[in-house]
Amino acid sequence: MYQNIEQQKNYWHKEVSNFDSIYSHRKSGFKNFLDKKLRWDMYERFDYTMRKSEPIEGKNILDVGCGTGRFVFEFVRRKAKKVVGIDIAPGMIETCKKIAEEKMINDKCEFYISDPFEFNTEMKFDVCIGIGLFDYIIEPLPVIKRMKELTTGKIILSFPKKGTLRAFIRKIRLNARNCDVYFFSPEDIKGYLKEAGIEKYNFDQFGQLYCITAHL
Ligand SMILES: C[S@@+](CC[C@H](N)C(=O)[O-])C[C@H]1O[C@@H](n2cnc3c(N)ncnc32)[C@H](O)[C@@H]1O
Repeated sequence: MYQNIEQQKNYWHKEVSNFDSIYSHRKSGFKNFLDKKLRWDMYERFDYTMRKSEPIEGKNILDVGCGTGRFVFEFVRRKAKKVVGIDIAPGMIETCKKIAEEKMINDKCEFYISDPFEFNTEMKFDVCIGIGLFDYIIEPLPVIKRMKELTTGKIILSFPKKGTLRAFIRKIRLNARNCDVYFFSPEDIKGYLKEAGIEKYNFDQFGQLYCITAHL
């Protein structure tokens, strides 16, 4: 089993508004201040993903673990042809569908409650992203291989750094809430990429994160 799916589904189903408030800033001034100081790398990761996904116009894009769809909606805004978001947490997908309806962009994006293995499609995507996903996956290799099967162009991935004080604190905090979380070294990640048959990639890091853009 590459992940404890039931545990993750339950955890994220309940975390929808908490998680989205990191982007929406709908929280107290002090909490926003803490996000800016401690989570700046999440915002940087968003910009990185957009930059590395370009040119987006006219492209088909898949977001694995799409959460509340923040990346999906930005891809649509940047004129992607079709964007598909999948997530195992029903609450996340309900929220994405609601926002897509409000924005009247239903024809540009689709959302499914699914992991990448159940996700059954004939479509091949130009870009496939897995951002903030591998933090919750004990065995990333099969997931990377599946993303590769679904993609013709680029795969963009993020991994949280192993061995930092923040990693230690985060592990205690999330484990206490019954959510497993995993951390990775550059060697771990490069090993997965090699085993997945991915040779060409950019390996970037900022803050607590490693970000990879693989060229297929
Ligand atoms: C930290 S959130 C990141 C959401 C979004 N990618 C972002 O960065 O804003 C992680 C999301 O991954 C989803 N997830 C975890 N494991 C998954 C899997 N195997 N397949 C699909 N989604 C998964 C969770 O339900 C959750 O919504």
